[in-house]
Amino acid sequence: MYPAGSELFEVERLLPDELILASGKRLVGFDTRYDRIRRDLRLLSAPDEVRAWSKQFYGRELPLCEIMSDRYPLLIFSGDVGTGKTVTAEAACDRLAREAGRAAMLFKLSTRVRGNGKVGQMSSLINEAFAIITKEAGKAKSAFLIIDEADSLSAARDGAQSHHEDKVAVNTIIQKVDDLRRLGGRVLVILCTNRGHALDPAVVRRAARIERFDRPDAAEREQLIRMDYEGLGLSNESIRDLVDITGPQKLPKRIGFTFSDLRARLLPEALGLAFPDRKLTAAELLMAAQSLQPSPAVEDA
Ligand SMILES: Nc1ncnc2c1ncn2[C@@H]1O[C@H](COP(=O)(O)OP(=O)(O)OP(=O)(O)O)[C@@H](O)[C@H]1O
Ligand SMILES: [Mg+2]
Repeated sequence: MYPAGSELFEVERLLPDELILASGKRLVGFDTRYDRIRRDLRLLSAPDEVRAWSKQFYGRELPLCEIMSDRYPLLIFSGDVGTGKTVTAEAACDRLAREAGRAAMLFKLSTRVRGNGKVGQMSSLINEAFAIITKEAGKAKSAFLIIDEADSLSAARDGAQSHHEDKVAVNTIIQKVDDLRRLGGRVLVILCTNRGHALDPAVVRRAARIERFDRPDAAEREQLIRMDYEGLGLSNESIRDLVDITGPQKLPKRIGFTFSDLRARLLPEALGLAFPDRKLTAAELLMAAQSLQPSPAVEDA
């Protein structure tokens, strides 16, 4: 879409989007989480509505309207690998666009934004990306930017130069998020990270909300298993066994499976044992669960 800038974005999509809607529907706990964050999202993305609310109930624009429009349009999604930060961010943006009843562009900053490590290059790429996003958020449209910091900003932290480069990039992001406040909530940034504790305090301070993501607990694993394995005819007992075996273990000590371990690793592993000769049984699912090691936890998630 942008010949010069297209390298910048891994995803550039018009919302609402049916594929994103469908993937959101398959996320355990999405509705609860979305309800929790939508108030913030709405307050951030619709300062005009806050003014209208103020006029309706108080007959004028109260000072709080100014305070609200001064907030930073930034959410942080923080947590372990494979716990749904990226998919939730996309689905939340999609639902927000639907509820607002106006089109929006969804951008995801590409890992290529690191550039080749030359000092200043990453910052100028980030500047370029924000310029495009700002331009896109016109009167009729809003824009969402997902910064998937996980691999891009943390991958090359070794080496003094890249460390410096990271800092410059973070400063640029801070400055750009500050600037976004002038747009009256038409651009929202969601920063996804699995290094929550390593995030710059200046970024954290600006976040309107920090949403935590964790590995699924037993109830969530059960919900996922019942949804994904629907139709396989698993008994309640087999489901209970699967929920147990995919949870944290004491001896030997082991953490529990992530959402993505359950979906993208356990299922194919088990299916490989049955396909194409026979039906998939609980025994194969249990065997696969026993043989797999969950993704290692990110230390400071
Ligand atoms: N709440 C959930 N319910 C069902 N499946 C989920 C959920 N969260 C994540 N998943 C599955 O896990 C996969 C990985 O999710 P996602 O890429 O959003 O993780 P992430 O937290 O961004 O991980 P990373 O830190 O590695 O980037 C998704 O494609 C989805 O299939
Ligand atoms: Mg991610």
